[in-house]
Amino acid sequence: MLSWLRRTLQSSIGKKVLMACTGLALIGFLIGHLAGNLTLFADSDGEAFTAYATTLNSNPALPVVEIGLTLLFLAHIVLAFSVTRENREARSKGYTLRNDHGARTPGSRSMMITGVMIAAFLVVHLIDFRFQKPPLEEMDLLAGMVKSRLAGTIGFLIYLAAMVPLTLHVSHAFQSALQTLGINHPKYNRLIKTVSVGLALIIGLGFASFPIVYFFGGNA
Ligand code: HEM
Repeated sequence: MLSWLRRTLQSSIGKKVLMACTGLALIGFLIGHLAGNLTLFADSDGEAFTAYATTLNSNPALPVVEIGLTLLFLAHIVLAFSVTRENREARSKGYTLRNDHGARTPGSRSMMITGVMIAAFLVVHLIDFRFQKPPLEEMDLLAGMVKSRLAGTIGFLIYLAAMVPLTLHVSHAFQSALQTLGINHPKYNRLIKTVSVGLALIIGLGFASFPIVYFFGGNA
């Protein structure tokens, strides 16, 4: 296992495959996280969200999942820097090695910048909710915390603005990950691109709906 990991990390395609897998897992997390957060809209007093947050936080496996999630984020970021450096070195030596064949899109050109912006948002976000989370028996306070953070001007701007890099990042990431994993065919590439952009819009607009709803006062 360890030697397999070492060999994978030493090859450039191995790194790209690991980046694709960690990226797809993170997109899976985002979909689950969005679905859980949507319980905030189920009722106006946050009962459904409290039930969801209580179930989540009383699960003894949560610390293990959190460690796994942290490792996924860290591995994805470290691999991104390493692959970008290798690509840059290869290009400066005259090789035209690029992991994204075909046309460059706004998403593909800005993966590093959007990635760094998402990481910066994540730091603020974890301080907001993960590290100030109420104890289990007071989990009913969490919905109010989320609503008041997003209803304030600064919170509104941060949580809305961060969805722009997130949407751009995912719109390119999904199709790029499938391509890296060999899931591409001239017949389906257009469809894969459309699904990728559609998925990114669902995630981005889905998360953006929270600051919009709470800032402009509905369902608060
Ligand atoms: C408006 C949008 C969002 C809202 C309202 C929101 C809300 C929350 C809340 C309430 C928690 C604490 C949950 C708990 O542990 O019970 C949380 C945790 C977390 N959120 Fe978000 N979130 C949003 C967007 C995002 C985005 C875009 C990302 C990723 C880029 C993200 C990543 C995380 C992570 C990694 C955790 C920690 C999970 C854990 O340790 O259990 N969130 N979020």
